[in-house]
Amino acid sequence: MPEESTWRSVFRNDLFKGKVALVSGGGTGIGKSIVIELASLGATVVISSRNEEKCHKAADELNALGFSGKVAAGPSTNIRKEEDIQKLISHVVERYGALDILVNNAGGQFISDSADISKRGFQAVVETNLQGTFLMCREAFNQYMRDNGGSIVNITIGNRNGMPGMMHSAAARAGVENMTASLCVEWIESKVRINCVRPGIIFTESGFENYGPAGEYFLEKIVPSLPAKRLGSAEEVSSAVVWLLCEGAGYVTGSVICVDGGGSYVALPLVEIEDKTNLPTYGYLPMKAKL
Ligand code: ADE
Repeated sequence: MPEESTWRSVFRNDLFKGKVALVSGGGTGIGKSIVIELASLGATVVISSRNEEKCHKAADELNALGFSGKVAAGPSTNIRKEEDIQKLISHVVERYGALDILVNNAGGQFISDSADISKRGFQAVVETNLQGTFLMCREAFNQYMRDNGGSIVNITIGNRNGMPGMMHSAAARAGVENMTASLCVEWIESKVRINCVRPGIIFTESGFENYGPAGEYFLEKIVPSLPAKRLGSAEEVSSAVVWLLCEGAGYVTGSVICVDGGGSYVALPLVEIEDKTNLPTYGYLPMKAKL
């Protein structure tokens, strides 16, 4: 997180004055950066996660920074549970009187070869990332946005070339992007815009702690393959999110903004491939066409 004294949003100070926002997974990493942007621009921001105590701690820490908006903790919410989501959305609407902005940032996955992913593991990742995002959108729409309009941003991850080593998550996130395409048409008459931000490999302390040695692999092997030759910052993601949420993006719905330093357009070495594969050849190939 940037130091308080150096943090300055590129957006207008009162951009979200009077607006109520909900950011899932808003206590750490990219989510926290989104919360900082929104609160610094005047919004009341509710953060949710499974661990309510951590949410309160994060809210206290952020409020101490003295933003013009404020940050509040929501009730403990497991986005795999429909009842938790229904309660979270009704809590926000009842307590704060509105739900103008929803950012679906909570998500999770684990690194595994696809061949080793169990049905239960696959289901857990799809339930968290795809079903959880759907239920959050549906409840926000049914409980508030259908009658009042609103703006939703779903945070996905790079999935243009699949994601070897985290197939389940990339498949679920591609599903979120496709779901967004359907919802943007169904909900436009309610003045609801819904978009996605698709981050590439972003450096956050919490993210790199989670991935352990894989984090080191990212730095050594992937950074040199990225067109930008560096990772992204959480603030580079949150400023894209804020733009999509603001009125200046009034004609933008159903879109996916990639914040990835061009990483979607090159093959990233997410997993190591042996020097020689036994892929059979059909037709003529000169020896020099092989390793
Ligand atoms: N972050 C990761 N998994 C989650 C879940 N099931 N509910 C809420 N936040 C999460």
